[in-house]
Amino acid sequence: MKITILACSALLTIAAACDCENTHERHEWRAPGPNNSRSPCPGLNAMANHGFLPRNGRDISLTDLHAAITSAYNYAPETLDNAFQMALDFNLSTTGNSKTIHLSDLNKHNAIEHDGSLSRSDFNLGDNHSFDPEVWNSTATHLGLYDAGVDCESDLYVTVEVAARARALRFREAEALNPAFNASAGALMGSVGETALYLTTLWDYAAGTAPKAWIRAFFEEERIPYLEGFRAPKTQRNLETLGAMNAAIQAVKV
Ligand code: HEM
Ligand SMILES: *[C@@H]1O[C@H](CO)[C@@H](O)[C@H](O)[C@H]1NC(C)=O
Ligand SMILES: *[C@@H]1O[C@H](CO)[C@@H](O)[C@H](O)[C@H]1NC(C)=O
Ligand SMILES: *[C@@H]1O[C@H](CO)[C@@H](O)[C@H](O)[C@H]1NC(C)=O
Ligand SMILES: *[C@@H]1O[C@H](CO)[C@@H](O)[C@H](O)[C@H]1NC(C)=O
Ligand SMILES: *[C@@H]1O[C@H](CO)[C@@H](O)[C@H](O)[C@H]1NC(C)=O
Repeated sequence: MKITILACSALLTIAAACDCENTHERHEWRAPGPNNSRSPCPGLNAMANHGFLPRNGRDISLTDLHAAITSAYNYAPETLDNAFQMALDFNLSTTGNSKTIHLSDLNKHNAIEHDGSLSRSDFNLGDNHSFDPEVWNSTATHLGLYDAGVDCESDLYVTVEVAARARALRFREAEALNPAFNASAGALMGSVGETALYLTTLWDYAAGTAPKAWIRAFFEEERIPYLEGFRAPKTQRNLETLGAMNAAIQAVKV
C-alpha cells in the first residue's frame, strides 16, 4: 500500500477554524506490519494505522476506544460503546482479558461481521475480513468514485442518496451472487449502520456532503484523509448524529 496524494486535494474544502489539531504529520499513517492485528472494520483499522489505537491492533480496551474515536474523528467517547460491548457479549475476545479485544477478534462471522459488506467478500467466498479490491470496485463504481474530478472541479462528492443506493445495490448483488448469502435482519441493520458511520465520519461540514477522495483513502488505504483536507470537526459527533444519518439513509427509496 502506498499513499497517493490526489492531485485535486488542494481544491477540496478544508473545514474552517477547527480546534482539532491532529494532522497527518502528528499521527503518521503506517501500513500494518505482518504481525499487526487488523479487523473487517476500516474505521478501527485506520485508527490503528495512525496510532490512535495501538498500532499492533492488540489488547484494546473500552478506554482505548474512547480516546481513539475522540481524537481521530471527534465522536463523544461513549458513542460506540454498544459495538464494543457487542464484541464482548459475543465472547469474541481472545486476549486472555475478558475486557479487551484484538482487532482480528472481530473477524468472527455472524457476530458483528456479516455478508454483503461494502469492501469485503462474503464468509463462504474466501477471505471475508480483509479489503477486497474486486468487491470495492463494485461499490466504488456505484458510488461514482472513479468519475470524480477528472477536471478537479466536478463530481467530487457522494450524497446520502447515492450512498444509500450504492449500499443497497452491493447488498443485493452479493445476495444474487452467493447462494449461501445470509441476509439476516442483523446483517441488514449492520450494513445500513456502517454506511451511516462512514458518511458521518467523513462528512465535510463546509460542503454539506462527503468527499469522494476522503472515502477512497478511508477504504482503500485505511487512512484518515488528512492529506486530502480532512480535519476532525469542531462540533463533536455522537449517537444522535449517527442516528440522524441512519434515518436519512433509510428514508432513501432504494
Ligand atoms: C468511528 C469508528 C468506526 C467507524 C468509522 C466504523 C466504520 C465501519 C464501516 C464503514 C464498516 C463497513 C465496512 C464494509 O462494509 O466494507 C465497518 C464494519 C465493521 N465494523 Fe466498524 N466502525 C467504527 C467502529 C467500530 C467498532 C467500535 C466496532 C466494534 C468493536 C466495529 C466493528 C466492525 C465490524 C466487526 C465490521 C464488519 C462488518 C462487516 O462484515 O462488514 N466498528 N465499520
Ligand atoms: C507477534 O506478536 C505477538 C503478540 O504481541 C508476539 O507474542 C510475537 O512474538 C510477535 N511475533 C513476531 C514475529 O514479532
Ligand atoms: C458467552 O459466554 C457466556 C459465559 O460463558 C455465556 O453465558 C454466553 O452464552 C456466551 N455468549 C455467546 C453469544 O455465546
Ligand atoms: C472467512 O473468514 C473467517 C474468519 O476470518 C475464516 O475463518 C473463514 O475461513 C473465511 N472463509 C473462507 C471460505 O475462507
Ligand atoms: C473495476 O472493474 C472494471 C471491470 O472489471 C475494470 O474495467 C476496472 O479497471 C476496475 N477498476 C479498478 C479501479 O480496479
Ligand atoms: C445468519 O446470521 C445470523 C446473525 O446475524 C445468525 O444468527 C444465523 O445463524 C445465520 N444463519 C445462517 C444460516 O448462517
